[in-house]
Amino acid sequence: MKISKIMKITGIGNYFPKKILTNNDLEKMIDTSDEWITTRTGIKQRRIAAEDESTSAMAAKAARKAIKGAGLKPSDIELIMVATITPDMNFPSTACLVQAEIKAFNAASLDIGAACSGYVYGLSIARAYIASGVYKNILLIGAEKLTSITDWTDRNTCVLFGDGAGACVLQPGYTNSGIQSILLGSDGRKGGLLYIPAGGSKMPSNQQTVNEHLHFIKMKGSELFKVAVTKMTEAAVGALEMCGMTPDDIDMLVPHQANIRIIRAVGKKLKLSDERVYTNIEHYGNMSSASIATALNEAVIKGRIRKGNIAVLTAFGGGLTWGACVIKW
Ligand code: COA
Repeated sequence: MKISKIMKITGIGNYFPKKILTNNDLEKMIDTSDEWITTRTGIKQRRIAAEDESTSAMAAKAARKAIKGAGLKPSDIELIMVATITPDMNFPSTACLVQAEIKAFNAASLDIGAACSGYVYGLSIARAYIASGVYKNILLIGAEKLTSITDWTDRNTCVLFGDGAGACVLQPGYTNSGIQSILLGSDGRKGGLLYIPAGGSKMPSNQQTVNEHLHFIKMKGSELFKVAVTKMTEAAVGALEMCGMTPDDIDMLVPHQANIRIIRAVGKKLKLSDERVYTNIEHYGNMSSASIATALNEAVIKGRIRKGNIAVLTAFGGGLTWGACVIKW
């Protein structure tokens, strides 16, 4: 059997819930303004999943499109990975729930816990399996219902997040296009900058944790901002160096969509014009692992990334984690 060292994205799919929450809607809920949110974050609106619409349900919808796009059937999929910080429940894994939903019964299933960098971590795991010849058809999904862990009384965080899912099918490639390099990193010492205190084994749920809003995202925004700019830039440059390239080679940077000012700062450090940096934060806010997934898919669907282009993904998130990936499309 011929084993390919190159991995290709052969199918893509996005799903966004229907309900839109605009900045003007938020003005009626908390002490904020469209002007503050727009200038400080770049976000104009975000999607909100229905109460009974879970992360796995959104993931399954994106997954079906990606599998169809790759010309496969769910039964062809050998591994399902879901990057998420909003699993339907602690276990079974969201990947197992997706498997049941899409009827991909020949697959192994696992979730990836790397927060907003989860999709890039997932690409790296998939590449290791493909390069070693273990699997040939892998489904990777970044899916989040962040509004389920958002404190709607905290204006520092609730304006930032949204829901959605992006998926891809990954297969061996036999030309030189596909994933060229992936660089990952983490710093567990800075985990306290972005986390959910309660609901795990360290602080199990009780009436007090609920009363004190400890099941929601806690964030030190301005400290994260600086680390995000540095790490996303370093990761992109490092991943490019791994395959003998420089930022000049980038046709389209697809950064994690946490804040337009972070994105612009990274673009500036890499000396990229705005046209070479893809953003969808204005429509969807920060969707953690689903941000890079959906932004990459959207850029391809809209023709902003075309055959032969060099696309660079660069991500940053809770953990802290970061990662970048160079793709020749
Ligand atoms: N509406 C109006 N005012 C708000 C507000 C809101 N929604 N949220 C915060 N403010 C206020 C603050 O209370 C503060 O007021 P004060 O000066 O009277 O105390 C002021 O705005 C400035 O707050 P600050 O935190 O300094 O703003 P900022 O410019 O750092 O922007 C973030 C805040 C959260 C948008 C920004 O820090 C950020 O995006 N950080 C990175 C977050 C991130 O990347 N998270 C995910 C990583 S994957």
